[in-house]
Amino acid sequence: MGTMALIHKGDSDLDSRLAKIVDKIQDRELRNRIAQFIENPTIEIEGKTYRGVSLEASPAGLSHHHSYSGGYVEHVVAAAEIALTLCDVVEKVYRGLVNRDLVLAGVLLHDILKPLTYMERENGAFGKSPLADNMDHLTLIVSEMVRRGFSLHLVHIVCAHHGHRYGPIGPRTIEALVCHLADITDSRLNGEVLRAAQYLTREATGIELHNVSGKEAFQIVQAKTMEGWEGVTKAVEKVKQKRQ
Ligand SMILES: [Fe+2]
Ligand SMILES: [Fe+2]
Repeated sequence: MGTMALIHKGDSDLDSRLAKIVDKIQDRELRNRIAQFIENPTIEIEGKTYRGVSLEASPAGLSHHHSYSGGYVEHVVAAAEIALTLCDVVEKVYRGLVNRDLVLAGVLLHDILKPLTYMERENGAFGKSPLADNMDHLTLIVSEMVRRGFSLHLVHIVCAHHGHRYGPIGPRTIEALVCHLADITDSRLNGEVLRAAQYLTREATGIELHNVSGKEAFQIVQAKTMEGWEGVTKAVEKVKQKRQ
């Protein structure tokens, strides 16, 4: 039985895009343990189980990047693609060795408890959960990985994913470095385009487009490249119609 079947058997009915990444992990035991974590992304503290927003609905950030519903899954999918491309470069150009299983596992777990730090407000926007007042997503995931008995190397990969400037420790292995670079690259790619789309929308129409998604933002920026300011106005109009 493939991992895909394992994942879809659960009542969580995990996004098939995440299941596809899980299925790329060759080591069966690691693959199953990652699948179980994705099916049950929770932490228990003082007898209370914290669940947070579902992975499918969750953003991956509140302001800098992927700050819209569905952003979490898009971030993990994009970071996995970038990470695998970096693995190709390590092997083909530098003749280096890299463990792709650990890289994929690291990408899949690196922000998996972030949704616990968010909650949906009545107006549909996302804000910080009460748990976020006490713990950040990195501390949550590292403690839960240690409790679940993951290898020290995989704990390190996740622990180092914010890099030496913003995290508690910098990447000390090729696998950790690949995960860190994939994470910041996609955060920048998404965040810069979101900001550009918001700016273009404001300048072209005078209105503020709220909760702009990655896909909408790329369309708006592309419209400016192809058709100038008129294109922006048309693209924003299209986005508004689709939302109704
Ligand atoms: Fe993170
Ligand atoms: Fe991330």
